[in-house]
Amino acid sequence: MSCNLPVGVFDSGVGGLTVVKEIMHQLPNEEIVYFGDTARVPYGSKSKETVTAYSRQIVKFLQTKKVKAIVIACNTASAFALETIAKEIPVPIIGVVKPGAKTAAETTRSGRIGIIGTEGTIKSGLYNEFLHNTNESLQVFGKACPLFVPLVEEGWIHDPVTKEVASRYLAELHEKDVDTLVLGCTHYPLIRDIIHEVAGNGVTLVNPAYETARTLQELLLAQGLLADENAIPDHKFYVSDGAEKFREFANSILPCEMAETKDVNIITFD
Ligand code: DGL
Repeated sequence: MSCNLPVGVFDSGVGGLTVVKEIMHQLPNEEIVYFGDTARVPYGSKSKETVTAYSRQIVKFLQTKKVKAIVIACNTASAFALETIAKEIPVPIIGVVKPGAKTAAETTRSGRIGIIGTEGTIKSGLYNEFLHNTNESLQVFGKACPLFVPLVEEGWIHDPVTKEVASRYLAELHEKDVDTLVLGCTHYPLIRDIIHEVAGNGVTLVNPAYETARTLQELLLAQGLLADENAIPDHKFYVSDGAEKFREFANSILPCEMAETKDVNIITFD
């Protein structure tokens, strides 16, 4: 395996770009091949079987791009599909849940942690499992926030409607008096300002993207796969629908201008 091969990153839509942004920041020489499953978003309300089948197709597509490692930049797919798919492919693959749980455990002072995510991520209980493996006495409170993903996909990032929705969802966690709140869906960092405003200054927000990029770096280093220091990456972006809308959105949040986004018929990767 050559160190100048790309890293594959995928999500159900635009959310994984928050992880891409962090990888670009921490590992500027790594080339990224991104896939956003914009035709089938959201994953959060779908079953484990469906999300695993979708993830498997995407992984097959990424493997045709000769990726040297894969990052599942989606909490729902990390919670539902990572363990299964990791056993099926020779390429190293990581998710965002374990790094997010690690950061949360290191961040909390009171031991009371809130997790917000999709229905699937919260129901999977995987954050709780990783957190309790680190420290049994942590108190973890999960809250599914299903309306956040469509609001973000719609671009309502600074909208009063999004703030109202956030106030309703976070009221329950307010009562639990958490001091740390995990943004357990890769779409949520895009509405971080609103979540911060509603959660209040006493609550530290955890974005698993930072630790995920660090985990990727450790993995590539351990396997001798870090890109050359003078490598100039040529990132590629693919979606299953709406390439132009995706490109505009991506250009508004990524540090570099995206030349082109291509549509892929993902169901052919079965
Ligand atoms: N961004 C994804 C996550 O982190 C999925 C959102 C969705 O498709 O429901 O869970």
